[in-house]
Amino acid sequence: MLLTFAADCDDSIPLRVVDHAALDAALADLSDAGRAWAQAQGFTAALGQVLALPDTQGAIAQVLVGYGTANARARGRFHMGAAAAKLPAGTYKIVAGLAGPDLEEAALGWLLSQYKFDRYAPAKATIAQLIAPEGIDAEKTAIIASAEALTRDLINTPASDMGPQELEDAARALSGEYGAKIAVITGEDLLTQNFPMIHTVGRASRRAPRLLDMRWGETGPLLTLVGKGVCFDTGGLNIKPGASMGLMKKDMGGAATVLGLAQMIMGLGLPVRLRVLIPAVENSIDGDAFRPQDILTSRKGLTVEINNTDAEGRLVLADALTYADEEMPALVISMATLTGAARVAVGPDIAPFYTDSDAAATALGMAATTVADPVWRMPFHTPYETLIEPGVADLDNAPGGGMAGSITAALFLRRFIDSPYIHFDIYGWQPVAAPARPKGGVGMGARAILAALPKLLDL
Ligand code: BES
Ligand code: MN
Ligand code: ZN
Repeated sequence: MLLTFAADCDDSIPLRVVDHAALDAALADLSDAGRAWAQAQGFTAALGQVLALPDTQGAIAQVLVGYGTANARARGRFHMGAAAAKLPAGTYKIVAGLAGPDLEEAALGWLLSQYKFDRYAPAKATIAQLIAPEGIDAEKTAIIASAEALTRDLINTPASDMGPQELEDAARALSGEYGAKIAVITGEDLLTQNFPMIHTVGRASRRAPRLLDMRWGETGPLLTLVGKGVCFDTGGLNIKPGASMGLMKKDMGGAATVLGLAQMIMGLGLPVRLRVLIPAVENSIDGDAFRPQDILTSRKGLTVEINNTDAEGRLVLADALTYADEEMPALVISMATLTGAARVAVGPDIAPFYTDSDAAATALGMAATTVADPVWRMPFHTPYETLIEPGVADLDNAPGGGMAGSITAALFLRRFIDSPYIHFDIYGWQPVAAPARPKGGVGMGARAILAALPKLLDL
């Protein structure tokens, strides 16, 4: 779904954003009749309050949108996205009240509020369109919004229509759009080409497991993105209870998010060499499924004892990370809906990440605030390494005891990589509708990474 600004036109409706502190000044600017109308309607510039002012013919002359106080705004983000959803039909032009990052967030939030998942049923179209505000990079904003829409579409599409093959098709379509190259290793070839853990996790499904390998760009530092592409996670033989399985079409949220990020990077023509690796599998149940206590030998040669077939994400990612590491990229970033523990720790609104680089963590934290894409650093706590060492093999995929589940998963991944590394343990789902984020699949961390890339890669 393409999310874009409206073309400038003669009959656009001026929109004034009114901070709570600027209410008196805004009212003083109105005609006597306009002021009386605003007061009669109880316009206080509260956050999200929308007021249309009529002209003498009864048409909408302009619109005031309350922007509240800084404290009220801090309780959420993309407030203009929420306002846009309340406005009457029309084409709007923001003429006052916002500048800098606030204006950028408003424009992006407006576009993101137009996202609809309409593959299976028609959705009500957005009626309030925004003309690209002056002073922002409109093209960049539209590229970012449309890439986020791709991420949402991929996550929202149910596993019946988003298996490993369809995820491959989506990556191929994206490659085609931007002239990227893509190679795919499928089924038994995963064994002959030494991706044993990707094959093992995916072999119980009739839909063959595969590794997607996309490359774009000729010059610049090599950035490799790795995304967990578990198209459905039943838990395997350690089957998930119904309530836990309910949302598991979103277990390819890491893949969807790195594909969205790739679209941003390619669409903006950033000076990097980009590689995207996606192990695309379905964690299914079958006579051929892998079992608890199986011991797998990974691509890297490390042996892994399976203590829970539901800890499958780290297995497929491990082989992909080893493969990524073989050409020593400038930076590897993995994104994965890896653990329930991450959601317990930070909830659905924050993308927790791990890195050994303080500089990378600082850059990400700062970028996140600027672009309204919250992230939070978690510790690669080396003393917990013993928790993932079972004794009978090099590694344990699912340490018992229930301690620090997101950290131990991250430490497991770190064993497979020596290059500079950032790992995101994301949720990928908006559980209740929020401004610019309808209930459903959602990208997390991609915009923060994009904004931090100049610092992360010395661009
Ligand atoms: N895909 C799940 C993690 C998940 C669950 C993410 C719910 C978001 C919401 C993953 O494959 C998984 O099942 N992880 C297990 C690991 C455990 C068995 C060590 C978990 O987190 O419970
Ligand atoms: Mn699982
Ligand atoms: Zn999973």
